[in-house]
Amino acid sequence: MAKKPPFVAGNWKMHMTIPEAKDLATAVVRASMELPEAEIVLAPPFTALSEVFKIVEESAVQLAAQNLHGEDRGAFTGEVSAPLLKDAGCQYVIIGHSERRQFFGETDAGVNKKISAALKSGVIPIVCIGETPAERERGETMAVVSRQLEGGLEGIALEGFEPMIIAYEPVWAIGTGKTASPAQAEEVHAHIRQDLTRRYGNGPAEYAIILYGGSVKPANAFALLSEKNIDGFLVGGASLEAESFIEIVREAIKAYKEKK
Ligand code: 13P
Repeated sequence: MAKKPPFVAGNWKMHMTIPEAKDLATAVVRASMELPEAEIVLAPPFTALSEVFKIVEESAVQLAAQNLHGEDRGAFTGEVSAPLLKDAGCQYVIIGHSERRQFFGETDAGVNKKISAALKSGVIPIVCIGETPAERERGETMAVVSRQLEGGLEGIALEGFEPMIIAYEPVWAIGTGKTASPAQAEEVHAHIRQDLTRRYGNGPAEYAIILYGGSVKPANAFALLSEKNIDGFLVGGASLEAESFIEIVREAIKAYKEKK
């Protein structure tokens, strides 16, 4: 299925028991029937993937995992590989989330390996990049996202890049209620698109979907997505309730229609 903007993904992180996940997914699927203009993706924890898959399977809502291991199989206790995610019904996988970089030592080289593993199994990477508060204060934002992109995408050919989604998530905005202003986010998104243009050429960079993530709420979604280079959202906290998540999707559709 072709990806399309506006693209709104809910990252449930380490939340949702199986019954809770089923309820939330059911509510999102129901609401999604009236919102065919948006690409809606849900990223439950591993434990709920197969049950959520059964619920989204017949709908346009897609399933994502939150992480994967870079090898296809082997003695890696506690890890989950791309073929296993594919088998569980995942179309997408989030790679390089700042929480994994911060708390689990994930590096650009590791992200690169995971991207290749996902692509090989036909699971589309949602690649996260973003600067810490200290890096922003030191004026290093653009250098950091460029370095993360370069390291993550090293050796990834155009055909691998084309389906991919990039998510800019400034670490200081995640779970803090401190959203980047639309202008702050747009500045980085434009920079990312420029980097992608240098790497993959005009057309592919223009069509690339670049998400913003970090305290996205119904109240700020419209203004953010009205910016030229913001094509959708990776939503954390506000994706844990159907009502706020769906309202974000609605705002995204409205903003996208107006700027087209
Ligand atoms: P919040 O929306 O809770 O800030 O989380 C953003 C995020 O990390 C999504 O991946």
